[in-house]
Amino acid sequence: MNNDIEKVLYSKEDIKKTCQKLGQKIAKQYAGKKPLVIGVLKGAIVFMTDLIRNMDIYMDIDFIDVSSYGGGTKSSGNVKLVKDIDTDVKGRNVLFIEDIIDTGRTLKYLKNLLMDRGANSIHVCTLMDKPEGRLVDVKADYVGLKVPNEFVVGYGMDYKEEYRNLPYVGVLKPRVYSNLN
Ligand code: PRP
Ligand code: MN
Ligand code: MG
Repeated sequence: MNNDIEKVLYSKEDIKKTCQKLGQKIAKQYAGKKPLVIGVLKGAIVFMTDLIRNMDIYMDIDFIDVSSYGGGTKSSGNVKLVKDIDTDVKGRNVLFIEDIIDTGRTLKYLKNLLMDRGANSIHVCTLMDKPEGRLVDVKADYVGLKVPNEFVVGYGMDYKEEYRNLPYVGVLKPRVYSNLN
């Protein structure tokens, strides 16, 4: 285990099962609809690659990058579009893939953006949900796992761009935040 991790909240096996369950459920509901599956960079990439391999349907994929955390643990409240999708969403059935929903600001911004562009439907699948963190009223349609009100890293999620490649989701040791070793 990575030496900066205090505890593992969800293991590789927990996450694998969650991806299978969610993938099969979503695939059923999107069969014949050829969804546009949009990964929200960068956090969602690890989850998205596992999830879509559990969805045996026709789909398009694309990516969008927005940022509000600037590497730290607190949302700045100001969501910025960093990289747009390449696909025209008019009339499409969009499924956003997120690693985590915390304040909900990122998701709210994304839903509004694609609604304005004329998407036919917009749904959201997130691996993790932190309901206690919510500051704006937004919900995911498919939720894998719940997390307590703690800052989590791994499986795509970062602290100052680090730890995204960990195969599990965990909590950092306090010394990592205080920069002492
Ligand atoms: C994180 C996370 C979600 C968002 C959730 O992304 O991946 O996209 O914040 O937080 P919210 O509900 O409070 O808006 P971040 O902006 O850190 O970018 P990253 O995915 O590149 O790490
Ligand atoms: Mn993100
Ligand atoms: Mg981040």
